[in-house]
Amino acid sequence: MPTYGTASPPPGTSTAEFLDAFLQNKSELFRESREVLRDSYVPARLPHRDGELRQVAEVLAPALRGDVPSNLLIYGKIGTGKTAVVTQVRQDLQRRAEAASKLTFVTVNCGNIDTAYSLLQNIGNTFAKNDADRIPTGWSLDRVQSAMRRLMDTKGGTIILVLDEIDRLVARSGDNVLYTLSQINTELETARLVLLGISNDLKFTNHLDARVRSRLNEEKILFDPYKAPQLQDILQDRARVAFHEGVVDPGVIELCAAYAQLESGDARRALALLRLAAEMAERDHAKRITRDHVVKAKNRLEKDIIIECCRSLPPHCKVLLYAILQSYERRRTGVLTGEVYDNYKRLAERLGLPPLHARSISNYVSELESLGLIRATIVSRGRGGRTREIQVDVPISETMPALEEDSLLAPLGRPKSRGQTLLTNFDNPGRTGPY
Ligand SMILES: Nc1ncnc2c1ncn2[C@@H]1O[C@H](COP(=O)(O)OP(=O)(O)OP(=O)(O)O)[C@@H](O)[C@H]1O
Ligand SMILES: [Mg+2]
Repeated sequence: MPTYGTASPPPGTSTAEFLDAFLQNKSELFRESREVLRDSYVPARLPHRDGELRQVAEVLAPALRGDVPSNLLIYGKIGTGKTAVVTQVRQDLQRRAEAASKLTFVTVNCGNIDTAYSLLQNIGNTFAKNDADRIPTGWSLDRVQSAMRRLMDTKGGTIILVLDEIDRLVARSGDNVLYTLSQINTELETARLVLLGISNDLKFTNHLDARVRSRLNEEKILFDPYKAPQLQDILQDRARVAFHEGVVDPGVIELCAAYAQLESGDARRALALLRLAAEMAERDHAKRITRDHVVKAKNRLEKDIIIECCRSLPPHCKVLLYAILQSYERRRTGVLTGEVYDNYKRLAERLGLPPLHARSISNYVSELESLGLIRATIVSRGRGGRTREIQVDVPISETMPALEEDSLLAPLGRPKSRGQTLLTNFDNPGRTGPY
């Protein structure tokens, strides 16, 4: 029976044959499971993070003897292994049986938390032994705080509260809740709380109240971005587990690592590239993963990221981007801000939106530039003063339809039959020139 993994069947294969093969989950490339290349997988070892593992363990180790460790802040750019390192140290500490009674870890991903209330409620409820203990919604914040303290004291011992993506918590709900947590030991009776914050915004403590900052910052550890050779080692480890022997062509891992180093040394990006390259190879019914698959994977990933980014823009910014793309597509060369503004106004009116003032639109132009979607250069217009000329840095053929999917912009949608391959080179990585 042929084997396809999750690839589409070769032409001429019956659906029944394909589904049978799929059910058996056989793949010529992947061994058991492709989970090994996913973010959720916790690897057995973390190459090039020995120093950081050791530092985190040194800060937290006093908890094993019943002492209270210092609070700790971990900083580093995305995909530098912060969460992975903390998870591993947590497992190592918990494995020491003696610690189990003296030490409790609570991990909260602040990315999923909207308010101070839900943070305290979540923390408290991890200690609830039954439904009657649980903190419901709808109480006053003071009541939630005292219920959380009571639940912590019932457990007692050292509680290490890991606040992952702590910067997002502060951005959403300010630092009051961190103030509460950072001084809670004065009110606890049998328990002691240690805060371990993880942030990929290196400057996030600048926005904190000075007292909160100094309490959180008792110890801090900075994770450097990975360099390409380090990323290669990380990928090699995973590839050995994920793939059958000999299916990864020479140069594949090196290329994934090189691309990911350019993306600020992000191990998550490196792993995603390798996984997607393998999936591209499966789709091609190839017996090996080649460098070409990596290039295709990189283009696919970039498109996905760009499109995701466009979808999350505020409404007027979306209309502005659409106006820029439309003008740029028409001219196939840089467009001046005056023309862009006129086009934006026309589109906004068509959509029934009162157009924003030119000043606000100018701020949005800067925002789109900082997101890397466009480039704006100042051009001198002789006696007419200076203006900005905008170049587009995204594939028009992908981005315009993605924006048109938004219900706000749907009325601007163009007939699908119109060829939209104009100006894109994302599918032709060898080509250069404006997208
Ligand atoms: N040294 C390493 N060895 C093996 N895998 C690693 C290593 N560092 C990171 N990874 C893997 O890379 C991915 C990203 O790592 P992790 O989630 O720890 O990054 P992070 O610094 O927490 O990123 P973010 O700031 O975006 O949350 C995970 O799948 C993780 O297992
Ligand atoms: Mg993380």
